[in-house]
Amino acid sequence: MELSINLTTQPKEIPADESKLGFGNVFTDHMFVMNYDEGKGWHDARIVPYAPIALDPAAMVLHYGQEVFEGLKAYRTADGSIQLFRPQENFKRLNKSNERLCIPAIDEEFALHALKELIKIEEKWVPHSKDTSLYIRPFIIATDAHLGVRPASSYLFIIILSPSGSYYAGGLAPVKIYIEENYVRAVKGGMGFAKTGGNYAASLKSQDEAKHQDYSQVLWLDGVHRKYIEEVGAMNVFFKIAGEVVTPALEGSILPGITRKSVIEMLQSWGEKVTEKRISVDDLVKAFEDGTFEEAFGSGTAAVISPIGMLKVGGKEYTINNGQIGAMSQKLYDELTDLQWGRKPDSFGWIEKID
Ligand code: PLP
Ligand code: COI
Repeated sequence: MELSINLTTQPKEIPADESKLGFGNVFTDHMFVMNYDEGKGWHDARIVPYAPIALDPAAMVLHYGQEVFEGLKAYRTADGSIQLFRPQENFKRLNKSNERLCIPAIDEEFALHALKELIKIEEKWVPHSKDTSLYIRPFIIATDAHLGVRPASSYLFIIILSPSGSYYAGGLAPVKIYIEENYVRAVKGGMGFAKTGGNYAASLKSQDEAKHQDYSQVLWLDGVHRKYIEEVGAMNVFFKIAGEVVTPALEGSILPGITRKSVIEMLQSWGEKVTEKRISVDDLVKAFEDGTFEEAFGSGTAAVISPIGMLKVGGKEYTINNGQIGAMSQKLYDELTDLQWGRKPDSFGWIEKID
């Protein structure tokens, strides 16, 4: 497919103070856009100046939430080059989400090609400071002007870019989390494994209440038994108990994180045993009570590796590893970020250079 390019005549100022970027606040000069129409397929792939999009007020995404998205990052290395981390996995997952939401599949190879071209154009927007990156947000929305409930017949696929710092303001500082007992995010058979806005909408109320209680996120339980650990707002979760690493198995209700997959593969390459299984709240409480609970951390593109320093279960607060980052969490964070920012050779074959 052809990719047409129309460059802006009014480039914006690139923020000089990278320490003030925050997460997802600033957007670059251009975006990638492609249309889908039934009978025509995906067409008119283009890079155009970043601008608001016009949508009919009846556009189906606005009413029934038919949309999917992805999140990945472009990293600036010490020699000034730019690289991506397992981007093929993101486009593969986008198509899995598409399938669940009745959105037509995209050509994954072409999407990656278009993303690379977009990043080349926006090269100057990839920040240089430690722990900063260019956050990439591909998304697809249903655009038919129609109010009946059915899959749409027209879509927009857009990729926007946002130079960003840490997702959590505290950076690598251990976060406080509680186990959510009132609300659920997703159930098996629902959309939990897909990256779609509705899952995040379902989480807002709970996240808001957590913020008010000075917790950074909640840890979700399964929606049926209300006793098995699922994931955190924007992260998968891992526990180290009695020397063994465990993480909730992928049973359809949690996001199959690319960082999760990478953490598992990295730990296994170090000879660590990682078990994907159902983990109950009782298993965690037991480990706290018998002193075998060693570490807990979340994994995600935006959050990287985020140590959990305190977990509230029922009314009780349990401090983990004295509220400090554990040795394994720290090593994973170091190794993963060394790979992502090109400080260490890519022995796993996970890096995709932009040239
Ligand atoms: N779980 C949820 C709900 C998320 O939003 C994310 C972030 O993308 C993750 C887990 C981690 O996934 P990944 O490692 O692919 O970023
Ligand atoms: C990511 O980690 O990329 C995410 O999409 C998380 C989030 C900001 C929703």
